[in-house]
Amino acid sequence: MPAIAIIGAQWGDEGKGKATDLLGSRVDHVVKFNGGNNAGHTVVIEDEKYALHLLPSGILSPNVTPVIGNGVVIDVEVLFRELDDLAARGVDVSRLKVSASAHVIPSYNKAVDKVTERFLGSRRLGTTGRGIGPTYADKMNRIGIRVQDLFDASILRQKVEGALDLKGQVLTKIYNRRAPGVDEIVEELLAYADRLEPMVCDTGLLLNQALDRDEVVLLEAGQATLLDVDHGTYPFVTSSSCTSAGACTGSGIPPRRLDQVIAIVKAYTTRVGEGPFPTELFDDSGEHLRKTGAEYGTTTGRPRRCGWYDAVIARYAARVNGVTDFVLTKLDVLTGLEQVPVCVAYDVGGVRHDEMPVNQTDFHHATPIYEYLPGWWEDISECRTFDDLPANAQAYVEAVEAMSGARISVVGVGPSRAATIVRHDLL
Ligand code: GDP
Ligand code: IMO
Ligand code: MG
Repeated sequence: MPAIAIIGAQWGDEGKGKATDLLGSRVDHVVKFNGGNNAGHTVVIEDEKYALHLLPSGILSPNVTPVIGNGVVIDVEVLFRELDDLAARGVDVSRLKVSASAHVIPSYNKAVDKVTERFLGSRRLGTTGRGIGPTYADKMNRIGIRVQDLFDASILRQKVEGALDLKGQVLTKIYNRRAPGVDEIVEELLAYADRLEPMVCDTGLLLNQALDRDEVVLLEAGQATLLDVDHGTYPFVTSSSCTSAGACTGSGIPPRRLDQVIAIVKAYTTRVGEGPFPTELFDDSGEHLRKTGAEYGTTTGRPRRCGWYDAVIARYAARVNGVTDFVLTKLDVLTGLEQVPVCVAYDVGGVRHDEMPVNQTDFHHATPIYEYLPGWWEDISECRTFDDLPANAQAYVEAVEAMSGARISVVGVGPSRAATIVRHDLL
């Protein structure tokens, strides 16, 4: 039985939450392996809409064990709030498991995140301000605080002292802000310990044993390929590994146990925050996509930047992640266009690029080369089989599939669980 990764192919918000939820009834464990509450997944089940940030979307499926893996950074206050909100709506959240090795986002890192953005001015990244970058930086810098540290007051104090030795100076001397005292932070973190402890375990062991028993483990990415700290549009990225390789390091499941990689890709492209975006639209078409697709951030409410489908990005995502199946979401949003442009390659200074340019500067200057596919006018939101789709919508899916480097196994035609066309079973 398999370990399956679900990842985003573009710059996030492709509909990973819905895809995870769709598979939910057939999997045993759903693991969040990277990022933190910078993610925002909207899942619609019948008339109920859920916005999840830190919890894996699998928490909504009654028989799934949701797991927060070692690769995640946790704002414990947000975790408890999200659990309480779901419990108040009748969701059973008692099965959640949290890795003892995941890092915790202390309050000073939220301050550092916000103040760094202000300090950067026009060079800012447009982060979510949740303390994600500074917490991963502390992890790499070996001054991070881990979940397990919360259960040993003397160790915790030593770690906080070590961290604040450096971060306190950064806050006061560089950013001219008040540095919190050691007592204040130790108290803040210790206050979480009693409630958190029963959820904590060796999640890597738990998941490998589950695979030994032939159970299905689904690894759900936050963010996406082009936001990956190694493979994305650096420095306009998040600070974690969002690609399929990150699913292994962030969960403790070895690469050879990963059987399937499902990439979620939107039928057009969006991006939140700063950074290059070749197919971005600044005209009425962009506004049309934003309005029709309700492209406003789940986490920060910011309007998402919108543009046409970019097959160069899809091919890149297929390669970097070893994609076995694409889920093409939001096809319904493209209904009602005379023609649907698809970017097939870039022009950089008169030179055609069929693959992602290796230099960021070239990517910044890439002009899309478009192919124009005929549009359709029929409402497709009630279509449930591929044959139900109008001929031009079918042709769009087939054309995009041929350009994108892996088969399109599922097509989304609306936000709800039911609004889905399955061409090839994912499990
Ligand atoms: P995630 O971060 O990748 O989980 O995606 P988000 O939840 O941030 O954004 C995707 C949005 O698209 C959500 O509001 C979903 O409810 C919605 N959605 C997902 N699939 C479809 C689809 O096929 N059609 C439409 N119209 N909306 C969809
Ligand atoms: P989901 O999981 C879209 C973007 C931010 C910013 C950059 C760095 O919903 O797809 P960070 O706070 O992570 O340091 O910000 O990454 N970003 C996302 N954009 N969807 C997300 O998550 C994102 N998570 C972070 O806007 O540009
Ligand atoms: Mg999102």
